[in-house]
Amino acid sequence: MKSSSRPLLKVSGLRKAFGDHVVLARIDLSVPRGTIVSVLGRSGAGKSVFLKCLAGLIVPDAGQILLDGRSSGTSGGQRTPSGPRASFLFQGNALLDSLTAFENVALPLAQTTSLSPDEIVSRAEGALDRLGLGAFGRHYPSQLSGGMQKRVALARALVTEPEIVLFDEPTAGLDPLSRNAVFELIVRLRQDLGFTAVIVTHDVVEALEASDRVALLDQGHIRFEGDPESFMASRDPMVSDLRDSAGALARHVAGITGVTPLAGRFLT
Ligand SMILES: Nc1ncnc2c1ncn2[C@@H]1O[C@H](COP(=O)(O)OP(=O)(O)O)[C@@H](O)[C@H]1O
Ligand SMILES: [Mg+2]
Repeated sequence: MKSSSRPLLKVSGLRKAFGDHVVLARIDLSVPRGTIVSVLGRSGAGKSVFLKCLAGLIVPDAGQILLDGRSSGTSGGQRTPSGPRASFLFQGNALLDSLTAFENVALPLAQTTSLSPDEIVSRAEGALDRLGLGAFGRHYPSQLSGGMQKRVALARALVTEPEIVLFDEPTAGLDPLSRNAVFELIVRLRQDLGFTAVIVTHDVVEALEASDRVALLDQGHIRFEGDPESFMASRDPMVSDLRDSAGALARHVAGITGVTPLAGRFLT
């Protein structure tokens, strides 16, 4: 089904420790082009650290990250993004409060491309329109609801037409309705635009509904990796624990970091 046998993203032997705290011991993960891979794990498991390594925001201690066969290059620099081909949607949106929604979306185009000002305006407006924010370009983040801020962040992540989008807990902190809306949006946009995605989440239901593959990060390793059907069939006690908790979890507002029912189950 996939056009190329080479995964768009291939992570091998990734290691990251902070002092003697080994967060990622040895991570291997392949993300085929055009797929959504969800990385599940309890709070503090290292999901954000993993995603930041992929984005070039954290320099790993060892291992290789290949994007379309090329090293994503984290040679000791502060921020060496893997080019406009990868975008990162931060857990807290990371919108700039002093810029309007339009300016937030236009910023990566101004910073990473040599497009003309007219072209930047037209692309940024197009991205806002696509996310139903056409009338809100002049609003500042503080004037927008949480769900709308998330959509602005999504527009900003997609405006550079990335090949791969890295989502860190995309629905954390949203009320249930906004949460569903944002998640539907991600799935629909991915169908329309055809990007590949890695979604880090502690929400099992989201992971199973939206992903082609699910990986479970635990103790610095990928403990399980497979399609949602294998996840449902797995006899791994931690996987079945997650499955059992999913029903209860779905009734809760996601994103109360560290005190979610999921984290509670993991820690017992
Ligand atoms: N810059 C840092 N310096 C030291 N420790 C860090 C740093 N970033 C993350 N950690 C630690 O790494 C672990 C994993 O964090 P994180 O990836 O944020 O977990 P989560 O799975 O909840 O996203 C935590 O124990 C956290 O305290
Ligand atoms: Mg995190």
